[in-house]
Order: sequence, then C-alpha cells, then structure tokens
Amino acid sequence: MPDTPITFGWFLPTSGDSTWLADPSGHIPQSRALFDEIVDVVDKAGFSYMLMPVNAACWEATVVGSYYAARTKNVAPLIALRSAYCNPVLSAKMFATLDQISGGRLCVNLIAGINDDDTKADGIPDTKEVRYEKMDEEVQIMKRLWTSHEPIGFEGKHYQVDASIEPKPLQQPHPPFFLGGASEQALEISAKHSSVHLFWGDRPSGIAKKIEDLKVRARKYGREEVLQFGMRLQIVCAETEDEAWADAAKLVAGADGMRLANMRGKTDAVAGIRKTSEANRQVWKLLEESGEDMMLAPHLWAGISKVRAGAGIAVVGNPDQVAATLDEFVDAGCSSFCLSGYPHAKAARIFSEKVLPKFKGRISRALPQAA
Ligand SMILES: Cc1cc2nc3c(=O)[nH]c(=O)nc-3n(C[C@H](O)[C@H](O)[C@H](O)COP(=O)(O)O)c2cc1C
Repeated sequence: MPDTPITFGWFLPTSGDSTWLADPSGHIPQSRALFDEIVDVVDKAGFSYMLMPVNAACWEATVVGSYYAARTKNVAPLIALRSAYCNPVLSAKMFATLDQISGGRLCVNLIAGINDDDTKADGIPDTKEVRYEKMDEEVQIMKRLWTSHEPIGFEGKHYQVDASIEPKPLQQPHPPFFLGGASEQALEISAKHSSVHLFWGDRPSGIAKKIEDLKVRARKYGREEVLQFGMRLQIVCAETEDEAWADAAKLVAGADGMRLANMRGKTDAVAGIRKTSEANRQVWKLLEESGEDMMLAPHLWAGISKVRAGAGIAVVGNPDQVAATLDEFVDAGCSSFCLSGYPHAKAARIFSEKVLPKFKGRISRALPQAA
C-alpha cells in the first residue's frame, strides 16, 4: 500500500542509553536529563509517537509517559501495558485521564512480557498463556468502560467487573492499541483489538507473509481494513555508507556470544527469553541463520541481536539507503515505523534531519484511529 500515509515513532530508552552495547562502559544511565534531551528532539522532529517500554530495569512507563505528555506539544506517548500487572478498571481510568489531559495524545502498547522469569520475579505468577488470556479480557473491559455510561457487567474467566468510569477518553471511541508479540495468542488478540501490530525486524518478504496471515485473522473480526502494521527497527544512519557501517561495528565491538543489555542482569536471561518469547525466538533465528556478516539484506543487519533482546535488527546505511530500505517495508504493507538508534537523541536528530525529509508529503502525524 505505498500510498498509505506513514507514521513515525521513536523509542525512549527508559532503562538507559548506550554508545557501546557490548561493554558496560558504554552504558548511559537513566536520568531525567537524558530523557529530556531525547524527547525534545523527537517532539520537534515530526514523529507521532514515542514508545515507553517496560521491563525490570525501565522507569515506570505510565508515569514517564504522563510527565512527557505534559512537557511535549506534538508527540504522543505509546505506553507499554503489561497484562496481569494492573487492574483493568484502574488502567482504563488512568489512560482516559491521560488522554484527556494530553489533548488526545495517547496510544497503548499491549505487552505480555518477554521473560516468564522476570514476570514471576515481579510477583506475577501467571504463565504467558494466562497473561494473554488476561490481556484479551483487560482490553475488552477497557473498551467497554471507555464507551459505556452504565455498569458493564463483564463476566470473564479472570475478571468480573460491574463498574463504569469517568472520565471517558478524549479520543473517540478510545485511544488506539498497538501490540508486539508473535505467538498464536498474540496474533489473535492483535487481529481482534489492535490498530497497529508491531513487528521486530525481518526481511520485507517475511513481513509481507506475516501481514497476510494477520489480515486473514482480522477478517474474522471484521477488522481487515482497521489493522495497520508497523516495524520496530534500529537505525544506524550516517552521511556515508562506510561511516554507518563503522558506527554499527563499534556498537557491538568485542561482543562474545550473547550478552544482554537492559535486562535484570541474570546470567540465564537468554534462556528465559528463548523459552517465553516467540517474537524473540524469530529474531534470534534470523541472527543465527545470517552467518558471519549478520546481514539479512543489503542494508538490514541482525548484529544488534547479539547484544540485546527484542529490537535487534537495524537498517544501516546513508540517508538514501535507509529511506529506500524503509520503503521496502512500506511496499510489504507497513505504514508505521517505531524506531531507535544509539545514542537515542543523536540518532533521532540524524534521522529527522536526513531521512524524514525523504518521506515529505507522505508522513501523517495523526494517531491511528481505534475501531
Ligand atoms: C514491537 C515489540 C515491542 C515489545 N516491547 C516489549 C516491552 O516493552 N517489554 C516487554 O517485556 N516485552 C516487550 N515485547 C515482547 C512481548 O512481551 C511479547 O509478548 C513477547 O515476545 C512474548 O510473547 P510472544 O511469544 O507472543 O512473542 C515487545 C515485542 C514487540 C514485537
């Protein structure tokens, strides 16, 4: 769908930033000053949303999102919500309040959690399967609370709710949901509830197949035209291709085997993530199959997956090459890009000055419509 307007988002690294992912000396700790610098660049640059992630090392996503909703004028927080962590009546009320206070600048990213061990350590004993069951019920409850003026009488397997809430959200019918996950349950819930399904990196041909599958699922719920698709990618962009590859090499220099940044620091984090996350298994499989150079396509590089879980696939190149590679994902059916790069303020500045202008006339700042 090359004519579909494209929406860009950026990532706020609330577990800290880095200039050298393979070595702790490259870590830039979390601080308000770090976040302020990144958010100020992003807010002025033409991005529509800013992803606030969740994990044990992250600052709390809804609190950070609320603070930056007040500090910014344009960009909307895309707040990760982990199922089973929060009573859905409270979630509905917090998000409706934030949507009102921010002038309708809020999106919610549905997340089941990347590692069962971490979730258990947080005091949530549910398996991933149960967390997804709860996610489905939580979203149903939030949607009904946001749109009903009567007590909703919800009778689910995990929740029984007979409330109504105020305020209602400003965005009508309610703020949009994004979802990141790749298991059967994730795909089904996304087809049923999301406005944007987010993928970690893959080749454009692989993404086209996944989109086809999701469209078939969405059709069952009458949502084939509603569900949009987005890529969560890293960007390593420099004036010349050689500089970009040198920057990419520096990021992972000295990495021996898997070392995970941004996790709780347990030695078995890799095993826990592999066990829990289909989305991550797919990314690490691409890395394993890519061979010595870790290339998936001419400007698509899996190298960052050696040193972090999740968004480890990067677009590497000069501004023309980066824009052309993103356009391959547009041709595959994507209309949203949730991006990041190291360090985040500098990478956002380069992307906004050098790459965004190449999409002139094709960018939408409007948030996706929920339905
Ligand atoms: C784009 C994207 C963003 C994600 N963000 C987070 C996050 O902030 N925190 C987290 O714990 N997991 C995150 N995840 C992982 C999800 O928790 C996902 O549900 C996990 O991979 C396990 O589910 P699955 O087997 O359905 O893939 C993200 C996944 C994707 C694809």
